[in-house]
Amino acid sequence: MTDQAQSPLPQPGELIVRRIPFEFPDDIAPHWKADEPQWSHMINGASLTMPYLEPFLIDSMRDALVHITDPDVREAAKGFMAQEGQHYRQHRRYNEMLKANGYPELAQVEDDMQKSYDRMRERRSLQFRMGYTAGFESMTLGVTSWLVNERLDLFRGADTRVSSFILWHMVEETEHKRVAFDVYQAACPGYLQRAFGVFTGSLHLMWYSRRGYVSMLKKDGLWYNLRSRMRLWRRVTQFGRHVVPFMARSLMPNHNPEHEPDPAWVREWINGYARASASETLPLIDTNSAQMAPPYAEPAR
Ligand SMILES: [Fe+2]
Ligand SMILES: [Fe+2]
Repeated sequence: MTDQAQSPLPQPGELIVRRIPFEFPDDIAPHWKADEPQWSHMINGASLTMPYLEPFLIDSMRDALVHITDPDVREAAKGFMAQEGQHYRQHRRYNEMLKANGYPELAQVEDDMQKSYDRMRERRSLQFRMGYTAGFESMTLGVTSWLVNERLDLFRGADTRVSSFILWHMVEETEHKRVAFDVYQAACPGYLQRAFGVFTGSLHLMWYSRRGYVSMLKKDGLWYNLRSRMRLWRRVTQFGRHVVPFMARSLMPNHNPEHEPDPAWVREWINGYARASASETLPLIDTNSAQMAPPYAEPAR
């Protein structure tokens, strides 16, 4: 684990804890991709879950650490917890903006999530909770691949503050992609619970994300609109097409997330940020540019 203040160019697999002061002022529209409220709300719905999901992942990992002596796995687990801690704090601020900007009813979904995670903390074994954690992280790699590789379709012309925030989160998910798996294997190995976790970790999140975006689309008067529903289904179908192969591979007995290649754009983001972090500017992406290069990318020669 490296703190952002002391980072030269990071090595693959190195976890950097970046405390980026993303700003979410009230002038950010909840339809941050103005021509696609449906897609905007899919991301908003996912964001809504993060301050409930990610503390649960952190707590599960903290409990697992008690059973782990390997110093490398312990160090990586601490980096994972620090990164996820940054993620959910940023999402919580973003979600407060969403609720203040027209969607106070999201608080009900938040209450239900809090209860659901509290129940899992109380009732479920460490192996279940770490299986959930590793399973969720496997699905996340599919989401990362989708969002990064299809960024021109998904973020072009969108609010750079939201787009850059979401893609930063995806970059760090790539950095810690193997940690939950390694901790699971070290603390409470077993194929069946790990495979089960691919479903519990993914479907539980999808359910609450969906509740969030359905609530917002109802508020907008777009939920019972056929044209709107078809635009939503198009994005949901894309989500499935990109994510299901990652979930299927993670069900294999010999699966190791280390074997999933990192998108080249992610590496460029990491190196560009490391080169420029002394400037203390936000890593904003030009969402109107042709390639949507990572922030601080070196100009093409
Ligand atoms: Fe995260
Ligand atoms: Fe993660």
